[in-house]
Formats: sequence, C-alpha cells, structure tokens
Amino acid sequence: MKVTVVGSGNVGATVANVLATKGFASEVVLIDIKEGLSEGKAMDIMQTAHMLNFDTTVTGVTNDYAATAGSQVVVVTSGIPRKPGMTREQLIGTNAKIVKSVVDQILEHSPEAILIIVSNPMDAMTYLTLKDTKLPRNRIIGQGGMLDSSRFRYYLALALQEAGYPATPTDIDGMVVGGHADKTMVPLVSLATYRGIPVTQLLSDEAITKAVEATKVGGATCTKLLGTSAWYAPGAAAAALVEAIALDAKKLIPCCVYLDGEYGEKDLCIGVPVILGKNGIEKIVEVEFSEAEKAKFAESVAAAREVNSKIGEALA
Ligand code: 2OP
Repeated sequence: MKVTVVGSGNVGATVANVLATKGFASEVVLIDIKEGLSEGKAMDIMQTAHMLNFDTTVTGVTNDYAATAGSQVVVVTSGIPRKPGMTREQLIGTNAKIVKSVVDQILEHSPEAILIIVSNPMDAMTYLTLKDTKLPRNRIIGQGGMLDSSRFRYYLALALQEAGYPATPTDIDGMVVGGHADKTMVPLVSLATYRGIPVTQLLSDEAITKAVEATKVGGATCTKLLGTSAWYAPGAAAAALVEAIALDAKKLIPCCVYLDGEYGEKDLCIGVPVILGKNGIEKIVEVEFSEAEKAKFAESVAAAREVNSKIGEALA
C-alpha cells in the first residue's frame, strides 16, 4: 500500500514515522512546500529502519505531487498549527485555502484515494473537502475522535489511579464524539468503562468532571506547554486510522464524517462512531447518548455549523 502524508511538520512527520514502524505500508511519501523539509524528515526516518526493523520505504519530496501518484490513502496535515491561547477555529482563514489546494492536487494524481483530514479546524476542513471534491462520504474522514478518545482514556486512567486503581490508558474504553473543539467536544462518560466496569461506579462526580474537562482542553494544554500544538498523539491517531483502512480492520473508531440524517443531523461533518475498513467509512454507528450528552452533542453541532459558515469567507 502507498500512503501519502501532506505536510512534513511535526504531525505529518510523526504520521510517517508511526506508519513506517508499523510496517504495513510498502511506501510512504512525505510532501511539503518547504524546500528540503520532507526529504530531510524522510531520510531521518529511513535511518531508523535498521534499529526499528521495518521495510517501509519513506521518501520525501518538495511540492512534487507527481511523486504521490497512486496513493491509496492520503493524510492531510497541511496548514499552520495553533499557538498558545489560540483556538483551532482561528486557523480557518489560513488553512482553508491550503487544504483546498492540497486536496485538489492530490486527487489529480490519486483519484481513488481515501482522504484523512487532520488540518484544523478539522471538522470544517473535512466539510470543505467533502463539498469541494464531491467525493462519496466514505472516502473523506476527519481525524479528531481517535485523538480525543485517547486523551479521555489517559485522563480517566489518571483519575482511577488517584482513586486507588492501578489503571493505565489501555485498561480504559471510552469515546469522545462531537466536534474536535475545546469547548464542545463530548466525552461520553455514560459509555466509559475500566475493564468493563462503568467508570461512574468507581469515580466520584468531581473526579469524572475533572477528567472530562482535562480531555476537552487536552490539545490546548499541550500547546501551552510546547509553544505549538501537539504531535505525538495527533500523529499516532491519524496513523491508526490509516492502519484500520489498510488492514481492512473494520474497527469502531469515532471519526469526523458527513452526516446525512444520522444522529438527526444533515449537511455537516462531525465526530461520531464509525466502522473503518478498506472502503474508508463503512458504517456509521448510532449509539444512545444520555440526555445530558444529547444536549452537549447538539451544542457541538451548532458550533460546528457556525465554523462551517465561515468557510466561504476564508476561501474568498
Ligand atoms: C490537537 O488537539 C493538533 O488538534 C490537535 O492536539
């Protein structure tokens, strides 16, 4: 399988690095407009092949879309990341034009590709891609829920540790739906479990609220500490989506997808549980939220629609 990663910054390079170490892709192409960046990152990754024991070939190119031809999956990380104090939504003015241009060029060379959108504001960039390309919705997937759910598991594990349970993130099952946005993402407490035990049976309301709030600002907290946005978890999350598609794993993962009546919503892209396999989004899974989660999901939908309403202006 050939995979292209557009944007060789921290997130893009991490996607390529994780893909290489996982070894299921025969070829990964990194592409960026910055002269030499992709070539350098690809060379650095390839020089780990012996130690990390992988046979994936990672190459880097500067703005040469011909080199991406025939990619089955393309991960779009292009655009600027947020700085401390910024919201993801504030990036729309810069990133909308970049994402549109990248996607158009990618499809010229890989018309059959499944696209994974990572660039922020991710839900709006996924919607823009869907509208711009008019591709079937199974081929346009936004990455947000995988990352936010992984952060939710991390913070729930910390909460359980504080409560005296030896939990690690892999002991936790938990999902975040809604937009990939600090205020309005929706960690689904009602469905979160520790080895099958609902976390609500083991944690106080205060501890759960703390984990939920930490999850929602998980990206912003890293951004504050790092001076730019996070990359290990966002990169690993995008690579996990590529893996589910490449291996036709048919895994249930929350992803940003175009809704056409599911969850009572139409004409918007937002995070909900889906089955990911070789065709991209193979099924949208409708689960029952609690009343409070339903209300929060509705707020998240309204916020996502508000950002979408700014796409036209951002592209003008
Ligand atoms: C994050 O949440 C970059 O949006 C990404 O870290």
